[in-house]
Parts: sequence; C-alpha cells; structure tokens
Amino acid sequence: MTASARSAELLRRTLALYDGSPQAERLFVRARALLSDLALLERHAPRAGAILDLGCGHGLVSNLLSLGGAARDVTGIDIAEEKVAAARRTVGARPNVRFLTADATTFGGGPYAAITVADVFYLIPPEGQRALLASCARMLAPDGVLIWKSQVRHPRWKYAITRGQEWLMTTLGPTQGHGLYFLDTDESLVALRAAGLRAVALPLRSWRPYTDVLFLAYR
Ligand SMILES: C[S@@+](CC[C@H](N)C(=O)[O-])C[C@H]1O[C@@H](n2cnc3c(N)ncnc32)[C@H](O)[C@@H]1O
Repeated sequence: MTASARSAELLRRTLALYDGSPQAERLFVRARALLSDLALLERHAPRAGAILDLGCGHGLVSNLLSLGGAARDVTGIDIAEEKVAAARRTVGARPNVRFLTADATTFGGGPYAAITVADVFYLIPPEGQRALLASCARMLAPDGVLIWKSQVRHPRWKYAITRGQEWLMTTLGPTQGHGLYFLDTDESLVALRAAGLRAVALPLRSWRPYTDVLFLAYR
C-alpha cells in the first residue's frame, strides 16, 4: 500500500469513529479533515512510543495516531472541555489513546517520542508560544520529534483567507481564543532553535487556501 493510500484508509477509519457523535460534531470533523491534511502529521510520527497531541480539539490527530500504530500511546490535551468530551466519545475500547482537559501552557509530562501540534499556537501570544516550544523541548525524549503544523503570514493572499477564517472561528465559531498571533516561517524557526531544537520547515503546497507549513523539530 502506498503512503497516500494508507493515509486515506486511516482517515476513513478515523472519521468512522465519529459516526455515533452528534451531527454537528460529525460535520465539523469532516470539514476539518477536508480543509487540513492532518494525516500528514501521522505520517511523520514514530510508529511506537508515547505521543502528546497538544490542543487536540475533537481528537482527529490523536485518533489518526492511535489507529495508525497499536504500539503508540497517545495523549490528547485541550483547554476546551466540550471538545475533550467529544474526543472521549470516540475512544471506545482502544487502550492506546486518552483525552485530558488541560492548558498546554502549564502542562508537564513525558518523555514523549513525539509531540504533535496542529493549528493551535496562533491562539497564544508570541511570548507564550516561545515558552510553549521550550516546554515541548523539555518534554521530548532525547531522540523525540516535535511535529508542528502551523499557518504563517505568506503568501499574503492565502494569509488573508487564513486570518479571516480563524477570526470567524474565534469570534463566532467554536475555537476559544483572544487574538490571533501567526508567526511567520523565519520567526517560527528562530523560536524553535531558541528552544534548543534542530528544525526544518516544509511548506505545504496544496489546493487549500491556507498558509500551512509543517515544522519538524528534533532534540
Ligand atoms: C484550530 S483548533 C485545532 C484542533 C486540533 N488540533 C485539530 O487539528 O483538529 C485549536 C485548538 O487549540 C485549543 N487550544 C487553544 N489554546 C490552548 C491551550 N492553551 N491549551 C490547550 N489547548 C488550547 C483550542 O481549544 C482548539 O481546540
């Protein structure tokens, strides 16, 4: 099976976990899965070991990780209780995933073989993002990897759409936040390196109208 066929199958099985969820949640996770290539984070994660999914929301990335490797032990945390409750409804009998209500800025744990972050840090002011990256570096095992999907400020036309949508999500939609703080690619790399991590940026070019970049950062 090719990597993309495996990801498509994994995404199908992950979305099926939400079949018993309220309709609004089912629609939300389907839209989220369409508009963001979350399976990409799973492809970069080790197939075994403890993994922390920071700002897990409804649990899509955590569930992709859990279904993608029985030897993974996945913890998803989010500050929003109702999202954690929605994520918990999908767990069933799987022993390798759990969801906790917790604030990423004060959370401590590990060591983790990987930490995943999908579209979370822009809700946190820059100083807080830098502190959080330093905390991630401390929570990683010596050969661990931070897999951080973020949205940057270029290209400008995509950034206008990215920012507009996130403004709507935080003002009228379900995302909790007070302000939007997108770091650009170079600022993110500087912050990762200041946290003591060796980092590379992979711009994600796709039909999606967002400024997605995947940062891979190693201890
Ligand atoms: C755009 S959603 C992304 C959710 C999920 N990562 C995904 O890809 O579907 C951003 C999430 O970050 C969470 N969040 C924001 N600030 C947080 C914090 N300080 N600690 C934990 N979660 C936080 C929000 O509650 C929200 O669920």
